[in-house]
Formats: sequence, structure tokens, C-alpha cells
Amino acid sequence: MRQGFKLCQTLGRLLLSSFALGFFLSNGAHAQADKKTYEPTIAQAGKDVIWVPTPNDLVVKMLETAKVTPNDLVYDLGAGDGKIPIQAARQFGARAVGIEFNPDMANLARQHAQRAGVADKVTIVTGDIFEEDFSNATVVTLYLLTSLNLKLKPTLLNMKPGTRVVSNSFMMGAWEPDLIINPEVGGRGVISPATGGRGYFWIVPAKVQGEWSLTGLPGIPTAHLSLQQKFQKTEGTLTFGDNRSQRVVGKLNGAQLTLTFKDANDKEQTFIGEVAGKKIHASLQESPTTVMTAVKLH
Ligand SMILES: C[S@@+](CC[C@H](N)C(=O)[O-])C[C@H]1O[C@@H](n2cnc3c(N)ncnc32)[C@H](O)[C@@H]1O
Repeated sequence: MRQGFKLCQTLGRLLLSSFALGFFLSNGAHAQADKKTYEPTIAQAGKDVIWVPTPNDLVVKMLETAKVTPNDLVYDLGAGDGKIPIQAARQFGARAVGIEFNPDMANLARQHAQRAGVADKVTIVTGDIFEEDFSNATVVTLYLLTSLNLKLKPTLLNMKPGTRVVSNSFMMGAWEPDLIINPEVGGRGVISPATGGRGYFWIVPAKVQGEWSLTGLPGIPTAHLSLQQKFQKTEGTLTFGDNRSQRVVGKLNGAQLTLTFKDANDKEQTFIGEVAGKKIHASLQESPTTVMTAVKLH
């Protein structure tokens, strides 16, 4: 109930802002030109969430934050009129897929992609985001609800490390964002006509929790690295062969693991590694020619 009330508040604000941005003026013009065009209504019911379009400025900022390029495959989950996949193709040259449950809305999105001249790059799937496969996406965009983001979270966390996820307005529970878009705008649903509203950005982290055997550290034949992980944050213990142990703290940026530790001479060092399944290929920030390998024990 409370969530529903909050959503109505949010959507009311979004509605005003979208009008302020003039987005619907252009839609109205299209509708007049073609009487047969399906005309959706803001806040109309959807399977799991109503339809409200992301303001234009925020669409662009979300895609810029995700650093979308022509090499990307962008999936918008709950695509509405297709504006996010269309922009991803038109401005950033990406291939893009929108998944939309409402068949009329999906058709409208296909028409918009055609009109925008990006039908060759944009595919609109009529389907349910909880059933369609989007595992090959390199970027996932969302404008859903926190409850739906949380339901998608395990699937997102199992995607290839480095996959970028960007959400309009709604967060991902304990998985803190790597970056907040428009942080100056207040909390969820507060809209600024100048910027659109807040967005949240995450990079799917590699999985590093466990026990690792590390070779190649200068002066240390074999070290043991024990890591715990909370999403993109990790910490644990690094033990040198002679049982000297120290706490280490690190961060994951997709598949890249950065850890700070003290070397055999008690000098602070930064370990930078690329996680590839059960192996990490690493070097030291200060000495990139120092090559280290960590192998996962369990
Ligand atoms: C808030 S709108 C966002 C539209 C678009 N992504 C944007 O940001 O402009 C959410 C959309 O998700 C669609 N939707 C709701 N539940 C869905 C589901 N289970 N599968 C696919 N689409 C769904 C709704 O019909 C609606 O068009």
C-alpha cells in the first residue's frame, strides 16, 4: 500500500516533469498525423508496473553514464514506447532490444524505431522481463520499481562481470550504486526540469569470495588470500608464507580487482588484477612488470 502510494506520488511528479520537458508534445503531433496510432496514457496499467516514460535528458545521461558505444547490446526491461533503445541506437550507435509486455505498446515502440530510422538496430520483443533471456546484454536499463529491481538483482549479478546496469529512480537494495546520476536532485521521484531526475548506475562485479593462492609477489614465493565479498566491495586477509597476516580491503570494477596491502618491506602497494573465473592475472600499480597470478582454491 505504502509503496503504491509512493509510486503514485513519484509518477505524479514525473508526469509534470515530462510535460515540462515537452516530450509529449511531439508524441501528440505524431498521433494527429496518424489517427490509427495507438495512444498510450501516462500512468496506464502495465503487467508489473505502470507506464511512465523516462524524461529525455535522463535517457541520454543514463546511456552516457553507461558509456554506451556501437559495440554494446543494450536491453531496456519494460521498454514502453521504446525511447531508451531508440536513443541507444540513434545517438550511441548501439544495438538495442526493448522487452515490453503490452503488445500495443511494443508495436508503438517498433513504429517509433522505424520513424527514427533505427529499425535495423532496435528489436522490440513482446514479452515478460521475468521470462525473456537478456543474458547477452552488455548494458541493462531499468525504469521499474525497487521491488522489481530486487527481483531482477540475482539475475543481474550473474551476468558477465563488467555488464553495466542503469536505473531511473529506483535502487537495488544493499547493492549500492557505483555512481549516482544527478545526485543534486533529491531522493526517489524528485524531478528537476533541468535534469530529469535521479538515476543509479552499477557495474556487475566479478565473484571473488573464497580462498586464493597467490604467486609472484616480490620476495614472497606463495601467499594466501582469503576474501569476503559484498557486491563490489571486498575485504579479507593476505597471509605471506611465514604466516604474517594482514587485513586487505579492495574494490571490484567489473572484472577488475584492486586491493591495497603492505609488501614484504612494509611498503603500501596496490594490487590490480583481472578476474577470469578461477584465476586472477595481476600486477602492482607501481611496477606493472611485476606479474602475479592468483588461483582459486575454493
Ligand atoms: C515505467 S515504464 C518505463 C518505460 C521505459 N523503459 C522508459 O524508461 O521510458 C515501465 C514499462 O514496463 C512495462 N512492463 C510492466 N511489467 C512488465 C513485464 N513484466 N514485462 C515487460 N514489460 C513490463 C510497462 O508496460 C511499461 O511500459
